[in-house]
Amino acid sequence: MEASLPEQRNVSTMQTLPGFRDFLPEQCAVRNHIFACWREVARRYGFVEWEGPVLEPTDLYKKKSGAEIVEQLFHFKDKGDREVALRPELTPTLARVVAAHEREFKKPLKWFSIGQFFRYEKQQRGRLREHFQLNCDIIGEADLAADIELVALCIDVLRAFGLSEKDVVVRISDREFWTDFFREQNMPADRWDELLQVIDKFGREPRERTVEKLGKLADPVFATLKGGGGNSDKLNRLIAGLRERGLADFIEIDVGIVRGLAYYTGIVFEVFDRAGKFRAIAGGGRYDNLIGLLSDGAVSLPALGFAMGDVVLGELINETPHAREAMEKAIASNRKIDIYIVIAKEERRADALAQIQQLRERGYRVDYPLTPTKVARQFQAAEELGARVALLYGDEWPQVKIKNMATAEQELAPQDRLLAHLQAQVSLSS
Ligand code: HAM
Repeated sequence: MEASLPEQRNVSTMQTLPGFRDFLPEQCAVRNHIFACWREVARRYGFVEWEGPVLEPTDLYKKKSGAEIVEQLFHFKDKGDREVALRPELTPTLARVVAAHEREFKKPLKWFSIGQFFRYEKQQRGRLREHFQLNCDIIGEADLAADIELVALCIDVLRAFGLSEKDVVVRISDREFWTDFFREQNMPADRWDELLQVIDKFGREPRERTVEKLGKLADPVFATLKGGGGNSDKLNRLIAGLRERGLADFIEIDVGIVRGLAYYTGIVFEVFDRAGKFRAIAGGGRYDNLIGLLSDGAVSLPALGFAMGDVVLGELINETPHAREAMEKAIASNRKIDIYIVIAKEERRADALAQIQQLRERGYRVDYPLTPTKVARQFQAAEELGARVALLYGDEWPQVKIKNMATAEQELAPQDRLLAHLQAQVSLSS
């Protein structure tokens, strides 16, 4: 008997669900370009790649991600009656994995990961219900040198897309500044998380709502936010470290940055576009207690990291002409094939296919017409696909005509010496 499914809202099976995307080849090329830059820069910094599952026990996020993200979970009971959730972020998974495998690795760990995340958010510009993130985390290093390295990595990732200090800004703060402040104001520690959430939403929520939630703290908090503040020896040393690397122009101290997630303990930062048009591009910070908390104290390790999303980054690249141009150039060159095989005489198809197999085995990107096609059409396809040479199988057999697509120069090469001939002419696409 067919199991009956619960009554569901009318959904069109011809469209994606709200907040989800199809990646047609053009969008896929953009996404892959973003992934390639992310991976390349993370590797440059000596980070190694890892990955976790997309489905986790819901409790993993209830423990310490904070109320906001728990409200946004895509969660359900699986067929084994387990409460599970599609991952909204990677950090709790990382904390669990590190706690479980702690002894297997030398510290500090420098790990990165690229994957998809799911949050049931209100639809708005720059926020979807699925997105991809680059996560970079350093585990097992309490020294400020790690914070400097992490922020530098985040900036260099942005620079890899052609974004400069004129396009983006990293706003940095220290959560300890606020926890010291709450202590001075005699606020009990069990209210700090909730107060930090209110400060995180400052400017995004109506002022009366913020005043109501902060109560007697409202005036001193507003005064602090207005006055800038937040200067400390730690932040000064962080900026000095970035100045040594020539990256200080990307940085601004902003005490209003506290981060929405509950587990942060120290330096925190968020990246925005300078024009202030978009939501945050990236965010992160120190979370020295999370691994201990999730492992019930079995493993305690300092940790820090950040995540950069593909959605806002993609929008910003698109609206920044020099970054968009660089991306389009990279995508166009990556899309090109090396060789197009023109089959001018169908009797030569079998010979051509044998050659195609050999060329592909050597790593060349090769295309050809699957069915009999007019020669002019085939040359047109060679051009559209960006082939550097076309090989013509026709009357000249057992010689093959080689046409350089850029110069239109042609020459003949005997079939058995073709490979050597091509090696000199067509280097492999990277
Ligand atoms: P997060 O600030 O929640 O941090 O997310 C990081 C980035 O992911 C955001 O700045 C944004 O670009 C992107 N993002 C988040 N939600 C959405 C959405 N609904 N649609 C599109 N993009 C989105 C974290 O997730 C932390 N776990 C980062 C971290 C890693 N902290 C330490 N290590």
